[in-house]
Amino acid sequence: MAQEQWFAVDRYLTDLLVPADAALDAALEASAAADLPAINVAPNQGKLLHLLARIQGARAILEIGTLGGYSTIWLARALPAGGRLITLESNPKHADVARANLERAGLTGVVEVRLGRALDTLPALAAEGRGPFDFIFIDADKPSNPDYFAWALRLSRRGSVIVVDNVVRKGAVADPESADPNVQGARRLAELLAVEPRVSATAIQTVGSKGYDGFAIALVTADP
Ligand code: SAH
Ligand code: DHB
Ligand code: MG
Repeated sequence: MAQEQWFAVDRYLTDLLVPADAALDAALEASAAADLPAINVAPNQGKLLHLLARIQGARAILEIGTLGGYSTIWLARALPAGGRLITLESNPKHADVARANLERAGLTGVVEVRLGRALDTLPALAAEGRGPFDFIFIDADKPSNPDYFAWALRLSRRGSVIVVDNVVRKGAVADPESADPNVQGARRLAELLAVEPRVSATAIQTVGSKGYDGFAIALVTADP
């Protein structure tokens, strides 16, 4: 019953507030046709990311975990003229689907899809002197979230915003006995956010068409 209600409310709110969009719809269709897992953010979550990036005034965005580029399109559309987004993806098939979806969305000149394991491509970005990024969305393999957060901080400036998806895991984040590496990643991330003096952070539970999960959000309050 709860799940049905979450879906019904998401449908109601999304129908009102997140109008259908050809490029976003096509991205989901192409991702499904290519058998990518349907683990993209929900439309109303994508719009939340888009609004957060606009509120931040982001001109440079970094995303870790591209999949078919659905969240990428939402974030890239938050950029002003001349803004840039780099998105990191380790699966070549996902990267190919994303590149096609981004081209269809007219974002080829705005977004760079970097293929490789993020723990390899993040140091490469730093070595190239890329960043600081104004907005960073972490949404790849969950056990690496503590490492991704450390890299995100390193690639930030005072005022940057870091958002992390999937930090609640159906409530399992509160279970200290969980043996699930995804849950352990979520817990270690929360513990890092708690003690890191260079950020002010919170996390919230979400329910909806993606089930029961949550986001963390951190504002970088000091120059890393
Ligand atoms: N942000 C996307 C969903 C990303 S799903 C959206 O909301 O639309 C997570 C993605 O992270 C998958 O495509 C997966 O292949 C990728 N991934 C998993 N491990 C990774 C790693 N080590 N480095 C980079 N990407 C990784
Ligand atoms: C899952 C959901 C996500 O949003 C994600 O980024 C990765 C995995 C999942 O439900 O398994
Ligand atoms: Mg996610």
